[in-house]
Amino acid sequence: MKRSLIAAVVSATMATGAVAAESVEVLHWWTSGGEAAALGVLKKDLESQGITWNDMPVAGGGGEAAMTALRARVTSGNPPSAVQALGFDITDWAKQGVVANLNDLAGKEGWDKVVPTALQKFSKHDGKWVAAPVNVHSTNWVWANKAVLDKAGVNTMPQNWDEFIVALDKVQKAGYVGLAHGGQAWQDATLFDGVVLTTGGVDFYNKAFVQKDPKALNSATMVKAFDRMSQLRSYVDKDFSNRDWNLASAMVIEGKAGFQIMGDWAKGEFLKAKKVPNKDFLCMRVPGTQGMVSFNSDQFMMFKVGADSQGAQTKLAKAIMNPSFQSAFNVVKGSVPARTDVPNTAFDDCGKKGMADLADANKSGQLVGSMAHGHAVPASIKNGFYDVITGHFNGTMTSAAAAKAMAEAAE
Ligand code: GAL
Repeated sequence: MKRSLIAAVVSATMATGAVAAESVEVLHWWTSGGEAAALGVLKKDLESQGITWNDMPVAGGGGEAAMTALRARVTSGNPPSAVQALGFDITDWAKQGVVANLNDLAGKEGWDKVVPTALQKFSKHDGKWVAAPVNVHSTNWVWANKAVLDKAGVNTMPQNWDEFIVALDKVQKAGYVGLAHGGQAWQDATLFDGVVLTTGGVDFYNKAFVQKDPKALNSATMVKAFDRMSQLRSYVDKDFSNRDWNLASAMVIEGKAGFQIMGDWAKGEFLKAKKVPNKDFLCMRVPGTQGMVSFNSDQFMMFKVGADSQGAQTKLAKAIMNPSFQSAFNVVKGSVPARTDVPNTAFDDCGKKGMADLADANKSGQLVGSMAHGHAVPASIKNGFYDVITGHFNGTMTSAAAAKAMAEAAE
């Protein structure tokens, strides 16, 4: 087909919104059991309003593949109605001038009053709302199988790094996998969020990952954090490489492993497997990071679509921000609501802890954006950090070389 004809077809599609008016197309990476169950809550909510949900799942934890698929769709002039996106990825897209303006709806519904400022930093661009935040996840969590810990003689929850290593050791010596892990860059970086926090605290974390201070990135504290990653490396099983995160969660769920360090989307897998907090599994902050929260919010960024599709898109944004939806969705997802006016009554003990931790960290100045999940630096630098962290985890460089490489990646 001649290029001009293609252009004509594309623009016609854009103008008429050829897909049925009352429908939305949503690009996301929620393909695990727990994630799909949570997304089902949103789909049903939309379908109950007569809106058809055109699903566009792009598997791949952490969303790298989804962002690649999005770039292809936008460059071909055919963006989806809405996309699951994280932090700086929203900001970067908003700068391209291809996202919709949600200010009318946000103003009518008072989003400015109920969404934490830490999230608004990413939901808005040039004073305009461009995304609807559905949750707040956090990455400095440890999930443990209670029966395995009992059998291994781990009777008290590790409160600091050294106690965590003792506990991992006991679990491994008792014949279980100490740390269930998937060897993928985004997962190695997710571990690193908590390891840097427990080693240097929030001030160091912000200096290194938000200000990208080379003296913090290439420092003795950063070397110590990498040394601790090497300690964790000795507790994973021999088949950890390229394992998907939810299969690592399954190892803890099934009692093959004692611990997993992972964001609280892992809790969605435990709930899907009908496991009960404090009975079957334990949730705790990465030892030594109690009081701190490294967060990442899943926001649905709305793209500019044809006039015919805007109605359904607005209904999607409205549904996402509905308080009762935010409770129903987050109870299943393992995250906590993005809105601060949602009661915690429907949440289990781990969910209630997550909500309390977030409020406390916000108040005490210990809430930081997750580097691993796009809330500290833009993707261009985040991916540079990923390369160093996963290279070091797989033994390609010493901790000193890794710290130096982090400073270089930030330039
Ligand atoms: C995070 C996202 C979560 C979950 C996780 C694993 O970035 O915020 O909702 O999808 O990746 O893929």
